[in-house]
Amino acid sequence: MKDRKIVLVGTGFVGMSMAYSFLTTGGIDELVLVDVDEEKAIGETMDLQHGLPYARNKLIIKAGGYEECADAEMVVITAGTAQKPGQTRLDMTAVNTKIMKSITENIMASGFDGILLVASNPVDLMTYVAQQVSGLPKNRVIGSGTILDTARLRYLMSEYLGISTSNIHAYIMGEHGDSSFVPWTHAYIGCKNLLEMLDENHRDLQDLNEIYHQVQQAAYEIINRKKSTYYGIGLSLNRLVRAILDDEHVILTVSCYQNQEYGQEGLYIGVPAIITRSGVETIIKLKLNEVDQGKFDASCETLKEIINSTIA
Ligand code: NAI
Ligand code: 2OP
Repeated sequence: MKDRKIVLVGTGFVGMSMAYSFLTTGGIDELVLVDVDEEKAIGETMDLQHGLPYARNKLIIKAGGYEECADAEMVVITAGTAQKPGQTRLDMTAVNTKIMKSITENIMASGFDGILLVASNPVDLMTYVAQQVSGLPKNRVIGSGTILDTARLRYLMSEYLGISTSNIHAYIMGEHGDSSFVPWTHAYIGCKNLLEMLDENHRDLQDLNEIYHQVQQAAYEIINRKKSTYYGIGLSLNRLVRAILDDEHVILTVSCYQNQEYGQEGLYIGVPAIITRSGVETIIKLKLNEVDQGKFDASCETLKEIINSTIA
């Protein structure tokens, strides 16, 4: 396996936003672009290569086929149909399941034995498909889950509270989609419990629930205006790839296989987890209150119903 070699499958808006970000952040040594539209992959490769003289570090960028996955440390999948105005993420399940199955088969046929990171939507379900088809250990198949939703929440809370995003320790859990939720009792601002802080400042949770609503609607608002979302997820994927390759042991909300950590099993869904070189090292178990556990269970049920009706 080559150190810091990643293969990107899907050179659309999302994939290329991540790819471009590596020229400015560094953190990988080799990037191979794969797409069913081979000419697009070549064109994107050339465009990125021309930025290399100004990139943060030396980097090999090339277009290629699935054989490139054989010695890659990670494969990132951002291929598939994107959401159209008026569609939910779950509406794309059937069409993207077919795409995900064929891509995963191609990746595994190369002899790939690294970490698979999935961003294609509906991401929790596509991560499930990728794990089932690949047969890779469940901790080595990871979905971007609610990492983007959590970034949106941290940004909006930071604006509202006037405190740096780096001190906003609030997390979105559940489906990357309409049934996500925020366990507010576990939110901290720096070392201060958020609910205590609100109480002392005579503010209530109403404003924060409105902020969550904005997060939940963010993709729809963006897609209505510019057809797709990609910078936020591109940077989120960059963050995740570097967390894995650098063995960071950082806590991020990603789509992880559930094994009764929150009383559920047989699906992937967004929860906070410690991310290391081996993928998901540990799922952080929060003691959810009754209301939040109900939201988590409902979010899982939504996904399980689709697994049973459309995927299984
Ligand atoms: P896009 O349409 O710009 O790009 C999709 C790319 O996938 C195209 O280049 C296409 O040729 C390629 N592709 C399609 N079928 C393929 C196959 N069988 N093998 C290889 N490549 C194939 O779409 P965009 O905007 O880049 O979105 C990609 C996915 O990412 C969508 O499913 C979208 O919903 C999802 N997404 C996920 C987010 C998240 O937070 N997880 C955020 C934003 C988008
Ligand atoms: C997003 O949340 C559409 O899943 C995509 O931006």
